[in-house]
Amino acid sequence: MSKQFDVIVIGGGPGGYIAAIRAAQLGFNVACVDEWENATGGPALGGTCTNVGCIPSKALLQSSEHFEQAGHHFADHGINVSGLSLDIGKMLGRKDTVVKQNNDGVVYLFKKNKVTFFHGSASFASAKDAQYELKFAPSKSGAQAAKPEEVITGKHIIVATGSVARALPGAPFDEEMILSNVGALRMATVPKKLCLIGSGVIGLEMGSVWRRLGADVTVLEGLPTFLGAVDQQIAKEAHKAFTKQGLKIELGVKVGDIKVAGNSVSVAYVDAKGNAQKLEADKLVVSIGRVANTAGLAPEAVGLVLDERGAIVVDGDCKTNLPNVWAIGDVVRGPMLAHKAEEEGVAVAERIAGQHGHVNFNTIPWVIYTHPEIAWVGQTEEQLKAAGRAYRAGSFPFLANGRARALGDTTGMVKMLADAATDEILGVHIVGPMASELIAECVVAMEFRASSEDIARICHAHPSLSEATKEAALAVDKRTLNF
Ligand code: FAD
Ligand code: NAI
Repeated sequence: MSKQFDVIVIGGGPGGYIAAIRAAQLGFNVACVDEWENATGGPALGGTCTNVGCIPSKALLQSSEHFEQAGHHFADHGINVSGLSLDIGKMLGRKDTVVKQNNDGVVYLFKKNKVTFFHGSASFASAKDAQYELKFAPSKSGAQAAKPEEVITGKHIIVATGSVARALPGAPFDEEMILSNVGALRMATVPKKLCLIGSGVIGLEMGSVWRRLGADVTVLEGLPTFLGAVDQQIAKEAHKAFTKQGLKIELGVKVGDIKVAGNSVSVAYVDAKGNAQKLEADKLVVSIGRVANTAGLAPEAVGLVLDERGAIVVDGDCKTNLPNVWAIGDVVRGPMLAHKAEEEGVAVAERIAGQHGHVNFNTIPWVIYTHPEIAWVGQTEEQLKAAGRAYRAGSFPFLANGRARALGDTTGMVKMLADAATDEILGVHIVGPMASELIAECVVAMEFRASSEDIARICHAHPSLSEATKEAALAVDKRTLNF
């Protein structure tokens, strides 16, 4: 007799593990299957986010920013550093420790919430008697290596199998010379010349890390517009800052042949003016987006429908075409963000329990953890114009914010967009210090459908960066106090 569960979650990333915990909190008998292995073959719960995404990238962004500050900016504060040197092995080791702390944290949470964990891969086998049978193949290299395959049965299945990096045709990832996010997070030496293809979120974050550590970085972007999805006033400010830092960003290129020869990789491309160019680099990172991961899931065994791009088709409630089969996170439509995956996980667990789980796609924040950071929520000025919506805009530069001056970090601004008639906040766009933290207030405001006047009337601590948000709200009504 197979092991039976009320809910089986396939995938232990931020979508899956949070869904499993919430379902367990709601009283269900829950299992989670995840195949990720650490260096010794043991489980490494937390998915892309914990192992090769959000967490290690933020660890390296922090370390590399310390290096940059010590090397270039401490002197402004009267702190003179001599003999500064880089121990890249230690930096990567620290990053791995941070990752492990997060892996172990999920194991602890599963125990605390009585979620049964299966380390290995799950695939659909059959649907019968209003249950789904899954084939579970234990991880081959860990402590479970000798265990045989087994069938586990669940009434509800939540698929949270995430995404993988998209490769360029003819240039598969080898993680030595042609790297995805996986290789980009573990280069053992700093490359002299680094090329990245795609100036999206990974291109900018990883490009920043390795530039700060000493690499000569060029980012080749296919589109003629820098950060096309970002409010263009903010994107222009960010572009200026990154260029000043020494990040070379070429827009509107058409990438051609990529060839690896020994320790060098060459990228042929046509630049925006139509000229043929060739870039020789020590490493190439390809960051041109990610694709849904359903490899090994055997969706065809039960007739689970995927779209033309391989993502699992779901409705607004994360229901698939099959009764009691749900899908969340990167493997379905919508932004590929850890917090979006988590919110869907919670909502689905609550829907299974007959509650009214809800995800508000209009208030999902985005953050790019460069320096300056870029963060936004809601609509951009370009989107409002395209929709013909009448709005008022207000912005406030960090240059005029006392805390930013004290920090020595005055690049950027907060920009607020509000409905012209009702003053409801429609979007907030920030480029500048701690934008990732400042955006939270704006998300709350938008969730409560606040007006810009609401923010303008709220007392903000002085001196704090958040005063720039208040001033941007005042600017909507053309009455800033400090600018
Ligand atoms: P995943 O995290 O991909 O987890 C899926 C899990 O399912 C994996 O552990 C996988 O091994 C497992 N799995 C797959 N198939 C099977 C199977 N058949 N059986 C068993 N297990 C299976 N997002 C942010 O919000 N903030 C950030 O700062 C951020 N930084 C990022 C940086 C990088 C470099 C990258 C690549 C991504 C980043 N993201 C960030 C995106 C974020 O990582 C994803 O949106 C998030 O991980 C998606 O969560 P998920 O649960 O849907 O899938
Ligand atoms: P992305 O979608 O952010 O950016 C991809 C870029 O590559 C785009 O600018 C696109 O125009 C460009 N591009 C596509 N094909 C190209 C080609 N053939 N030649 C040149 N340029 C090309 O994707 P990225 O950076 O790979 O990241 C994947 C996803 O991971 C992000 O969209 C995001 O959802 C998530 N992520 C989130 C982070 C965060 O929240 N801070 C950090 C890193 C990743």
